[in-house]
Amino acid sequence: MNHRSNSNLWLLALMVVSGVCLGNAQVPFPGKCPEVELLETFDAEAYMGIWYEYSAYPNTFEIGQECVYANYSIVDSSTVSVVNGGISGLSGQATNASAIAKVLGPGQLAVAFYEGQSLTKANYLVLGTDYKSYAVVYSCTSVTPLANIKFVWILTREREPSSETIAVAKKILEDNKVSQEFLSTTVQKNCPQL
Ligand SMILES: *[C@@H]1O[C@H](CO)[C@@H](O)[C@H](O)[C@H]1NC(C)=O
Ligand SMILES: *[C@@H]1O[C@H](CO)[C@@H](O)[C@H](O)[C@H]1NC(C)=O
Repeated sequence: MNHRSNSNLWLLALMVVSGVCLGNAQVPFPGKCPEVELLETFDAEAYMGIWYEYSAYPNTFEIGQECVYANYSIVDSSTVSVVNGGISGLSGQATNASAIAKVLGPGQLAVAFYEGQSLTKANYLVLGTDYKSYAVVYSCTSVTPLANIKFVWILTREREPSSETIAVAKKILEDNKVSQEFLSTTVQKNCPQL
């Protein structure tokens, strides 16, 4: 085994271990990012406003968060302002984080979660939305040729959407062969009115 694939394996092992230690803080998969079907058209304006997180893959920036929502608003023709909010399940404190996003293509956004992050690569892909009830959001990053990390969110316009709405969203994941095994449902009960 050469040096390089050896260090790739170490990185993979490290990710798996740290994922387990942080309570599955992120979901690593073997191999490169798989192809997904991108939208052909996207109405950014119709996509704006409040979305509630119905379920998501575990991720480090949302550990223990309840009542999670996103508020998207148009800044200019290609720029979107993002506010992610929620309630800490531990302290009950309301928290929020702001981000900026560029619309790079139909349903393809580059969201900068931290200052100086590049806005040239789409890291937020809308796999499907009807704008009025659900949106399925996917992100995949190849960390080495041997591993990738995925995030998936099912967002809904209602805190407690109908099972029909969720079935439509899940069908989109299924059609794209995106695993639903790691989706965990977000607590959206007893939440403050926005
Ligand atoms: C975000 O949090 C800050 C400080 O915690 C608060 O002042 C602000 O109103 C919050 N913004 C939103 C949109 O909830
Ligand atoms: C969402 O963002 C818009 C634009 O910044 C703002 O006017 C609105 O009050 C926000 N809504 C909530 C619930 O924070």
